[in-house]
Amino acid sequence: MPRRGRLGTGSMGDVWAVKLHYEGSMFDAALKESRVCGHVVNTNLKHEALILQALQHNRHIPRLYAYGRQKHFEYIAMEQCGPSLAQDKSRIMPVSEVFELALQLLDALEAIHHVGILHADVTPGNILLCPAKLGVPQRFVICDFSLSRSLATSARGGVNHLIGSMHWASVRSHQHQALGPGHDLEGLAYILLYVLKGWLPWKPIDDASVGELFTSEWATSGKPLQSIREKIGRTKEAWSGEMLSSGLPPVFGDLLDYARRLGPNDVPAYDMLRQRFQHDRTESQIEEDNPPTSGFPWGSKNITQDDPFITWEQIEVPSDSLTHFRLGNDWWQGELPAEIDLPNAFNYVLDSAWNLHVDVSWAA
Ligand SMILES: Nc1ncnc2c1ncn2[C@@H]1O[C@H](COP(=O)(O)OP(=O)(O)OP(=O)(O)O)[C@@H](O)[C@H]1O
Ligand SMILES: [Mg+2]
Repeated sequence: MPRRGRLGTGSMGDVWAVKLHYEGSMFDAALKESRVCGHVVNTNLKHEALILQALQHNRHIPRLYAYGRQKHFEYIAMEQCGPSLAQDKSRIMPVSEVFELALQLLDALEAIHHVGILHADVTPGNILLCPAKLGVPQRFVICDFSLSRSLATSARGGVNHLIGSMHWASVRSHQHQALGPGHDLEGLAYILLYVLKGWLPWKPIDDASVGELFTSEWATSGKPLQSIREKIGRTKEAWSGEMLSSGLPPVFGDLLDYARRLGPNDVPAYDMLRQRFQHDRTESQIEEDNPPTSGFPWGSKNITQDDPFITWEQIEVPSDSLTHFRLGNDWWQGELPAEIDLPNAFNYVLDSAWNLHVDVSWAA
């Protein structure tokens, strides 16, 4: 499996565009790579792969092809998707697209919560637009289950740090309270409002002013990150959904207010939310008198390949040519933090993913 280019970089490592070889054919895939020490048993990417495996029935989750582990690294090979919502920072999405985004992500979150998992890190960088494939229309997917954990554990609380990413985390998380599905819904509401407005009171379109805030806090308090987190949390609290959605269809603000009212053990009324979004989408189309004609302007490139997850039974094993390891001294690298667990009844065996052998040499 030769590498071709970097699709993204995250705290776990890099995500590469790769070609999978199978029976003389080549298929596009994304390879997520993370460093892991040899003695670690419960590793980050294995955790992610198990969650992906449990969610393969949902079309808003990337297809999982394979999981592999070598001496210092582990890998997930999955469906290669298009850009994330964070990669087009200047774009404000038309309301009709944001309704579609909302409906698709509600489906994804319902599926995730249904298997007893809190995604925990619903951010624009973790929402990808997948171009259409044979028989599968263009769709949004949610990726990155690196912070996901069991709802049962998150509802018990006890974690004293912010869970997720500063700009998209729930108010409850800023307050170090126990979290439930409302944490993910609140993140979704912030994203929808952000792509509609192009900004949020605590999140400008570019991060320059956050950088300035960081520097000034560093100079005055010496605890920059903590106090920025507190400031962002207090700003979020001061803005209701109703205030944030002024001038927009009110359902987007209502989703935020609803999510914030949910307790850690409350199950969201997904059907009610879906109906409300569908109803308000129809109303807004009538008002605009300009229904969307040709789907999203992004991702016009269609991939005309079958999804290998559907048709492949095994993966060809390329030669092992481990060429460049990035070595470090952190003995715990790749170890899951204690609070990142899976529900008791979960399948802890990767039985629907191939055992991946990775040739890490660069493609010519
Ligand atoms: N299947 C995919 N197809 C295309 N691009 C992807 C795919 N998976 C991830 N990416 C890109 O790589 C980036 C990092 O991936 P991901 O969020 O899974 O990594 P992470 O190390 O867990 O990141 P984080 O810093 O958010 O914790 C994503 O924001 C996205 O741009
Ligand atoms: Mg991510």
